[in-house]
Amino acid sequence: MQQGFDLTRHVRDYHYDYVTVVDEVMGSALCKTLRQRIESLIDKDQVRLVDHQGLGTEAVSDAGGRYLHHIFEGEDVRRHLPELTAVYHAILPMVSAITSQDVVLSPYPRSNINIKVYPPGGGTLGEHYDTNGITVLLFLTTNREAPLRMQIPRSHPAKGQWIEHRSIHAMAGSLLVMKGREVLHDCEPTITERKISVVLNYYMRGDTWRHESFDTFVYDGVPPSLEVEAGA
Ligand SMILES: [Fe+2]
Repeated sequence: MQQGFDLTRHVRDYHYDYVTVVDEVMGSALCKTLRQRIESLIDKDQVRLVDHQGLGTEAVSDAGGRYLHHIFEGEDVRRHLPELTAVYHAILPMVSAITSQDVVLSPYPRSNINIKVYPPGGGTLGEHYDTNGITVLLFLTTNREAPLRMQIPRSHPAKGQWIEHRSIHAMAGSLLVMKGREVLHDCEPTITERKISVVLNYYMRGDTWRHESFDTFVYDGVPPSLEVEAGA
């Protein structure tokens, strides 16, 4: 069920549950327009397919799973979907309010705004932590498959430590804000549906760290250790 914007609830959810979802940030008509543009670019082979498995290491906060999705990198988004750059700038104050952080835009043009399109029949993204401080996803599809799966760390003096598993299904136009650096997460493989997530990367002022091998690993499938050895 969709709910209205309630800052107190979003702040509480983000800080205690590591994630919150803001509904209806984008209207259904614009979601549909963007979906159609994205699908036509993929049909024309203008967007790269990321397809690798078992390359991730701890150095890049990755558990070594499978990656299978089309990727629009920052330049692709700016060229073909400039509406999303406006969204990226416009929601920064809201992201600051929800996270209680001094939020800044990403200084990395390749990864500041991406779109991940998971094709039917196994589209997925393996278990990992995000490298950037604040993870924001804008969903352009509504899916009954392929939820974001989170492993939320819990502890209590009387109960010890445990992991709470949570799955969140995409709803077109809704915005998910997550502590991606602190929660191991993945995208369950698709079966028959296509899932489209816009990834909006934000950082905190004074902490714009990003692993130097991260982009070539995620986008190009270059194993992190080899790239470091090659001195790239
Ligand atoms: Fe992630």
